[in-house]
Amino acid sequence: MHLAVEVLVCFLQMIWLWLVAIVKAVVPSSLQPHKDVTGWVVLITGAGSGLGRLMSLRFAALGCRLVLWDVNEAGNQETEELVQAATPGAKVKAYTLDLSDREQIYAAADKVKQEVGDVDILINNAGIVTGTTFLNTPDSMNIKTMDVNCNAHFWTVKSFLPSMLKRNRGHLVSIASAAGLFGIAGLADYCASKYAAVGFDESIRAEIVKQGRTGVKTTVVCPYYINTGMFEGAQTRFPAVLKFLDPPFVVDKIVEAVLTDQVMLCVPKSVYFFYILRGILPISVNQVLGKLVGVSETMDNFVGRNKAK
Ligand SMILES: NC(=O)c1ccc[n+]([C@@H]2O[C@H](COP(=O)([O-])OP(=O)(O)OC[C@H]3O[C@@H](n4cnc5c(N)ncnc54)[C@H](O)[C@@H]3O)[C@@H](O)[C@H]2O)c1
Repeated sequence: MHLAVEVLVCFLQMIWLWLVAIVKAVVPSSLQPHKDVTGWVVLITGAGSGLGRLMSLRFAALGCRLVLWDVNEAGNQETEELVQAATPGAKVKAYTLDLSDREQIYAAADKVKQEVGDVDILINNAGIVTGTTFLNTPDSMNIKTMDVNCNAHFWTVKSFLPSMLKRNRGHLVSIASAAGLFGIAGLADYCASKYAAVGFDESIRAEIVKQGRTGVKTTVVCPYYINTGMFEGAQTRFPAVLKFLDPPFVVDKIVEAVLTDQVMLCVPKSVYFFYILRGILPISVNQVLGKLVGVSETMDNFVGRNKAK
């Protein structure tokens, strides 16, 4: 195609897709077309508590077969029991493994393929946080944070994406964080791991698009703080703009995003606004705004899940 024509076609395509995106942003997702995931195999990491548990309950209710992964055997077992109680007859299988260990991931993935079959929706949700200033975090926790919050995404995607591409059906979901879009004091290694997860999602999406596999979708989720206990003690200065989120609300949004093939989900919506400001304002101006919002102070009184008990 002549370059001038190519530029024109690209320009028209951009305008069309922009209009589509505006309509999608305005129309409530509940009114948008939803894909039918009945019978799909959904693998959820970190299913033993918090968002992972709630997502398990939601996807079971949608008729999905569940594969639950967690290092916390008791928590994962409890999730399985809760799912069975809420959705009698649901097909659920729980596996205990440490996602910071690549070999354990590959071994568990092989087992899942033999015992359950191909995974259709892979939800990389498990996450950890140390929550102290960088110079006070032990090296072992820096490494573990990267392993669980990011590297595990590499090994799970390597395990399950090939069959999705082959069948041209699947969905990769990455539960990242708003901390994957903004650097926050007291969360240096966590932010690094979440930025990495966001970058990995974007690159994998580009590879899938390049291969023309239109049936394989991706969704990256970037929420602000959520009341699951993981960030116990963290605080927010302007709850009207950036409040701690209720887990069921966030999970509703995540499930809607998956069913409507939404590529990026930020919760609450104000995160999008700050993300745009970050892109257009000078760093010095963003720093002044960040100071007003109290971003660098949110982690000052962090206790965390383990220490809270
Ligand atoms: N809670 C928040 O404020 C918040 C905000 C933004 C993003 N997120 C992200 O959402 C995801 C879910 O968080 P949550 O709030 O439900 O936390 P959570 O602590 O309730 O759940 C995390 C789960 O991951 C599991 N896990 C941790 N390390 C593991 C390992 N090595 N191997 C296997 N499983 C492991 C835990 O056992 C737990 O069940 C995380 O990725 C988190 O970073 C949370």
